[in-house]
Amino acid sequence: MKGVVFNLLESMVEETFGLAAWDEILTKAESEGVYVASSTYPDAELMAIVAAASDLTDIPVDTLVRKFGAYMAPGFKSLYPQFFERCSGLKDFLLTVDGVIHVEVRKLYPDAGIPEFSYNDEQPDRLTMIYQSPRKLCMLAEGLIDGTAKIFGEEYSLEHSICMHNEADHCELALSFG
Ligand code: HEM
Repeated sequence: MKGVVFNLLESMVEETFGLAAWDEILTKAESEGVYVASSTYPDAELMAIVAAASDLTDIPVDTLVRKFGAYMAPGFKSLYPQFFERCSGLKDFLLTVDGVIHVEVRKLYPDAGIPEFSYNDEQPDRLTMIYQSPRKLCMLAEGLIDGTAKIFGEEYSLEHSICMHNEADHCELALSFG
């Protein structure tokens, strides 16, 4: 994971649980806590920090990862406003994640751990995003979708009944808009 992701996680923990909590979490996770945005750090280190945060706060790991995804969305919006400005709304934006946004991210950071999304787009008010990644961070994707929906001021509902955490080889995030 890129340092930028750790930087956003640190901001979320400090804003939500305070500075002391971040220090305590780093100690538990045996992490130094110095992250350069463009450098790459082990995925396991991020997961150790999330596990330590879960222990400290009694919030389940899945809930924290989802919350973190929602927090990342406005962070990405301030870092990369052009990705949001070119889109007319939530569905339009989500359709650019795989073929535009993550393609640009990979150009900037060739070693970034980027997931694969494909789409099932058969009705104007629906979209299914098919997620595949060895990191199985589908709850981060759920949170990012939620945070993005807030940025566009749109309502949506999500069904996630096919999941990699339930022995499937991919996740299906079935969205209805409006
Ligand atoms: C402007 C918007 C976005 C930007 C700039 C962006 C960029 C990135 C970056 C930098 C990473 C981390 C790579 C690493 O640490 O090695 C990442 C990972 C990820 N992105 Fe995006 N992303 C955006 C939107 C989205 C959206 C809307 C979704 C969900 C639908 C999404 C799903 C994910 C997931 C789940 C990961 C974690 C890695 C994995 O699952 O393998 N991203 N993205």
